[in-house]
Amino acid sequence: MPKWLKDAVFYEIYPQSFYDTNGDGIGDFNGIIEKLDYIKGLGCNALWINPCFDSPFHDAGYDVRDYKKVAPRYGTNSDLYRLFGEAHRRGIHVLLDLVPGHTSEEHPWFLESQKAEKNEYSNRYIWTNAAFQPAKGFLYIGGETERDGVYVLNFFKSQPALNYGFLNPEEDWQLPVDHPDCVATREAMKDVMRFWLDHGCDGFRVDMADSLVKNDDEKKSGTSAIWRNVREMLDAEYPEAAMVSEWNGPEMAINQGGFHMDFYLNWSGNGYSSLLRDYEMGEDHSFFKKDGSGDILRFLDEYLPRYKATRENGYYCLISCNHDTKRPKYNLDDSELKIAYAFLFTMPGVPFLYYGDEIGMRYLELKTKEGGYGRTGSRTPMQWTSEKNAGFSTCPADALYLPVDTAEGAPSVAAQEADRNSLLSTVKDLLRLRHEEEDLQADGDFEVVYAERGKLPFVYRRGSLLLALNPSTERVSAPVAEADAGKNVLYAIGNGEVKGQEITLAPQSFVVLK
Ligand code: NOJ
Repeated sequence: MPKWLKDAVFYEIYPQSFYDTNGDGIGDFNGIIEKLDYIKGLGCNALWINPCFDSPFHDAGYDVRDYKKVAPRYGTNSDLYRLFGEAHRRGIHVLLDLVPGHTSEEHPWFLESQKAEKNEYSNRYIWTNAAFQPAKGFLYIGGETERDGVYVLNFFKSQPALNYGFLNPEEDWQLPVDHPDCVATREAMKDVMRFWLDHGCDGFRVDMADSLVKNDDEKKSGTSAIWRNVREMLDAEYPEAAMVSEWNGPEMAINQGGFHMDFYLNWSGNGYSSLLRDYEMGEDHSFFKKDGSGDILRFLDEYLPRYKATRENGYYCLISCNHDTKRPKYNLDDSELKIAYAFLFTMPGVPFLYYGDEIGMRYLELKTKEGGYGRTGSRTPMQWTSEKNAGFSTCPADALYLPVDTAEGAPSVAAQEADRNSLLSTVKDLLRLRHEEEDLQADGDFEVVYAERGKLPFVYRRGSLLLALNPSTERVSAPVAEADAGKNVLYAIGNGEVKGQEITLAPQSFVVLK
């Protein structure tokens, strides 16, 4: 396990929209470099950069055309290497986004694979034996290639699935996982990883990490075996490199697959969405809404068994949002977000903050861009100042990659840096506290002290610290242990105190007691 993860706090950057230094309306590597001090000042010491590789951008870069070359719109490979160096100089680690499940249909491997003559790449993708033979049970495309066959997709039409084999092949076009051509796909992906690790990257966020082996069993043992093999390579060659999976199945990703971290994703009705995004299920009873109608047990009942099952082997991580999800500001105001972030940044695992969430950027209703559809509204330019294009770019407004939020009162970094009570200041305070108190870091003990169905506050322990939060506008109390009676307030949003064996919290409050 890379040691640096213990105190890591990630900042996710959608490079298109972070900071544009050459005035072409789209973010670039130099822009990220210029803002590293900002990121460090925020308290984040690790980056996850969304795919920044050469691509026709039918899915914002998740359709890679060349794994080893960056997209010219962000700069050159040398600029990215410089970014690694500048980040490291500031104690910041950098994860790139690895897309192992599919490539762009314009990737040279695919262009070879679709040829009628058999060649080294014929089996790099999944093909049936004839254009009139469907790939039953899969999304597939036929009628477009020189080759007489249909090919399987992994996501959009532009993303043919790479071939890692089938756990239990049922048709003659389905190769077993140990077929040399399937092993070659895995080795090709390891080669891509080595390339970036050798140039200074610190690991990968892995896209659709559970999607490699087809006809996999319920426990995804075929796909996990591939990741185990990758982990063995990393342990031997790059022991400080970190891997975080987009999986949302920590028992599989961490315990079986050997990922160091797995994210909790916002799947409708799951424990995580009950905290911040309950509206997708109808009436909004998100736990962090100030009407207090939420229920922390909807989260804990699901989270705790997973946390306990995986904590010896890795980190089950919480995110503020990501490029696929509506921003938390969509349904929570800044006072609600402060309590929500207090929770996210004091829980075990490694927290992930999506750019702009630290100032409460809004979700905008926008027409789709680069395959974003409903996700586009969470991908708008970072709001640095109240100046032209929110300080993101000097280009004419109509040349921007996506429009900036021009609403009156739209938040900006500059305005919030000048305000002690801003969301940004609260995020900085919380992250400072996390770095100062070892008990709050990724592997510190976590224990629920008070969590009752439909009741508040929520009280929990991290190591020797007692924490309590009350998202509601009512004053609330809960019993605590005798040993907690003498504890003092180390940090508070609002007010909270322990008297005798009772903890009381003022409306919308969060408190850490030591
Ligand atoms: C998950 C990524 O986060 C998403 O943005 C992308 O569209 C799909 N995987 C396909 O790669």
